[in-house]
Amino acid sequence: MQRILSTLLVPAWHKLTFMQRIAILTSGGDAPGMNAAVRAATRAAIAHGWEVFGVRNGYAGLIADAMDVLHARDVGGIIQRGGTVLGSARSVEFTTDAGRVQALANLRQRGIDALVVIGGNGSQTGSSVLAGMGFPVVGVASTVDNDLLGTDVTIGVDTAVNITVEAIDRLRTTGSSHQRAFLVETMGRNCGYIALMAGIAGGAEVIVIPECEVEPHDVAERLRAAYQRGKTHAVVVVAEGAKRGAHAIMQHVAEHKHTIGFALRFTPLGHVVRGGVPTAADRILATRLGAAAVDQLARGTAGVLVGLRGNDIVTTPLKEIAGKTKPVNRDLLDLARMLAQ
Ligand code: F6P
Repeated sequence: MQRILSTLLVPAWHKLTFMQRIAILTSGGDAPGMNAAVRAATRAAIAHGWEVFGVRNGYAGLIADAMDVLHARDVGGIIQRGGTVLGSARSVEFTTDAGRVQALANLRQRGIDALVVIGGNGSQTGSSVLAGMGFPVVGVASTVDNDLLGTDVTIGVDTAVNITVEAIDRLRTTGSSHQRAFLVETMGRNCGYIALMAGIAGGAEVIVIPECEVEPHDVAERLRAAYQRGKTHAVVVVAEGAKRGAHAIMQHVAEHKHTIGFALRFTPLGHVVRGGVPTAADRILATRLGAAAVDQLARGTAGVLVGLRGNDIVTTPLKEIAGKTKPVNRDLLDLARMLAQ
């Protein structure tokens, strides 16, 4: 079915050399810095003399044919804004053949030669499917989770880590005043990157991530030991994806509170870590990746994700990253534990 569709509905790859018109969308959970990527991709494409369409609300907008021409001025004053001015969505319809066929038909109807998809894991799996159907797509690595293969960092994660660290710092202040412990739960879906990095930067006593679970009784034991070592406060950072996560830990500690020393309070950060203005690092990363996506198309390359390795822009075939996740560096977890003495 897909082979037939690609023959009937989509432009051939050789058209890339005659690029005239591209579309840009942001998809999945919004990430601080997405706007900087939209701005960079738009202006880089305009610099090539191409026309740019901004698609509303991710793949849902592609299916609904909701898109408008973006001029250079339309993306002015957005580099510092969180969220995405294009809107985003998690489109169930795009997971169906019918939805994808409609999306491709709309792109073709408008004479659009290529698509830039700014998004995370699910979104780039969608990109990979479109690329597999023969449509030129370039993905831009953007998710607070930082779980995409093909890049060291994704747009949004620096902001999310910094917001989590700020929360830890604030909780530590009040924790010290009251000789309390705090459990901070942060985002990341099934990936512990935000919790791990924020835990290290915030000097957390315990870090619990899905990639390396810690049983609640072990968390309690580490809190007890910290109290006995004379600590005036303790911080436990838990990734939302941990199976024996925040609620299991809170319950266990409540049942053993008289033996631990510290009282433990719970602060779930939730979507707070995704909001607010992007850090300079996220704006710079997004600017580089957004422009690099257009650069790939200008060179006649598609079907890839643009990401960063070290300080270099790299590309990885979408089919190699689709549906997979990047592991966290467990050595950092050991380092954090050793330093939490
Ligand atoms: O993938 C980004 C993310 O923020 C995850 O960290 C989180 O689990 C999920 O999105 C939340 O999804 P939603 O915004 O749809 O509730």
